[in-house]
Amino acid sequence: MNRNFFIYWTFVLCLVVEGYAVNYTCTVNPDGFCIFQGVRITSVEEANDVDLRAPSYDLTRIKFRESEMFVLPSRIYSTFPQILELRVWWQSLHSIHIPSNLLHLDAERNRINTISYDTSTVPMLKKLELGHNRLKSIENISYFENLEFLDLSHNDIRSIDLVLFQRLKHLRVLDLAANNMAIVKNSMEHKLESLAVLHLNDNRLSYLDINVLRQFPNIEKLDLFNNQLMYMEFENMRSMFPKLSIANIYGNDWNCENLAEMIIYFKKINILEYKLYSVLKCRERAVDGICCSEGKALTILKKSNQYFSNYVNELNLHSQHIMQEMKQSKQEIRKLIEHENMTQASLKAFSDDMSAIRNRIESIAAITDANNGSSTAIPRQTKKHEKVDKLVQEILKIKQDHQSLARENQVFKQQIEGYEEMKSIIQELKQENNNLRTKLAKLLDDFHEIKSVKSVPTA
Ligand SMILES: *[C@@H]1O[C@H](CO)[C@@H](O)[C@H](O)[C@H]1NC(C)=O
Ligand SMILES: *[C@@H]1O[C@H](CO)[C@@H](O)[C@H](O)[C@H]1NC(C)=O
Ligand SMILES: *[C@@H]1O[C@H](CO)[C@@H](O)[C@H](O)[C@H]1NC(C)=O
Ligand SMILES: *[C@@H]1O[C@H](CO)[C@@H](O)[C@H](O)[C@H]1NC(C)=O
Repeated sequence: MNRNFFIYWTFVLCLVVEGYAVNYTCTVNPDGFCIFQGVRITSVEEANDVDLRAPSYDLTRIKFRESEMFVLPSRIYSTFPQILELRVWWQSLHSIHIPSNLLHLDAERNRINTISYDTSTVPMLKKLELGHNRLKSIENISYFENLEFLDLSHNDIRSIDLVLFQRLKHLRVLDLAANNMAIVKNSMEHKLESLAVLHLNDNRLSYLDINVLRQFPNIEKLDLFNNQLMYMEFENMRSMFPKLSIANIYGNDWNCENLAEMIIYFKKINILEYKLYSVLKCRERAVDGICCSEGKALTILKKSNQYFSNYVNELNLHSQHIMQEMKQSKQEIRKLIEHENMTQASLKAFSDDMSAIRNRIESIAAITDANNGSSTAIPRQTKKHEKVDKLVQEILKIKQDHQSLARENQVFKQQIEGYEEMKSIIQELKQENNNLRTKLAKLLDDFHEIKSVKSVPTA
């Protein structure tokens, strides 16, 4: 009795815990956003227990305000299947999932380091604002092929290969400001015609080969201010970027001679916006209100610039090569999978045949058994012969099938071996690439050293 009582209450308690959910209801604002307020989620488990309520569930715009969420409520996208716009600003999110129908996500000022997406279809997202987060690795961005506006400023990206944006054929604005970037690489093979605005300001660039931006022929605005640039080739800028009209370059460590020539060139080609304001006081000198220094001879800078750009080019070629290899191995894998499917299908047909034959053997055995000692043995005997002939034929056919299957498997095995080989080649290439990277980092150090020598007072 006591025991039953206990079991009963355990059961009831389980039901209550199971049914426990925290419910939040949003209110619709005149601007069309339904706003959730004060949502608290401190773990992934808690996110499963949150139910979102709304005056209607065909809402397209959702906003969270004054909330503290580790992740979004798990059911948010199934609750609002027609969502187009989501704003989750300043909410301590650590990761974000972007469903394929969403058009605009503003998730600035969180702690996001992971962006996941629905792998089944190409996301429709057009505008993504992820400024002030903790992104280090942004490979997944390359799947958002419909992006037009991408803000990744104030993250921790450090070094970037612009090839990541190759597939974003509609991208107009790319903001990579304030990311601790020391190097910008570009192993893109095709031009990205859509890009008009590129922010690279407030990084740690001490070197920029302007040629890495060659794949953005329609660029109109280029922000390079607040870096540590000393020298830049500018002579081909007009032919590379016929539409360029704003090129902010202030707040760098320009060599005065290079800067003076660059400003003359800018004026000549009608780039009239290259600074936000004129500085009043510089450590050494100013040219046209932009600080510069006389320290290092221009020829030395030019030379090291050339040296450096050769290395970066080599690195880019390597990246391209690796990408090519990857593409090939992807195709190989696809072929192998197709082949495996075929083999699977043959095996299935084979086992179907086998069971058909077995049925036949059994029925023939039954006939012979029934025949034993029977008076009508002779006509049955000829029937039996027919059956046996058929059986022999079937077995022959199975043998042939089996042989061709074995051959197929042999080919399949060889292909897999080839794939293994390719994998090791790619591994080697990766290693080489890493070595180059290390060399590059060392060069960067040397470069910084050259720069620091500059600050020794000139006689
Ligand atoms: C939330 O709603 C569910 C389902 O209607 C209910 O079972 C649960 O008790 C509610 N929770 C709170 C805290 O109101
Ligand atoms: C990239 O996206 C995949 C698929 O959505 C996800 O599993 C993975 O965690 C993401 N990686 C990063 C670094 O965001
Ligand atoms: C192989 O078979 C699987 C499952 O039967 C299927 O999902 C997949 O699409 C097939 N792949 C190809 C390339 O036919
Ligand atoms: C069938 O006949 C053979 C020889 O005529 C005999 O040895 C055997 O036992 C018989 N089998 C049955 C099941 O009657």
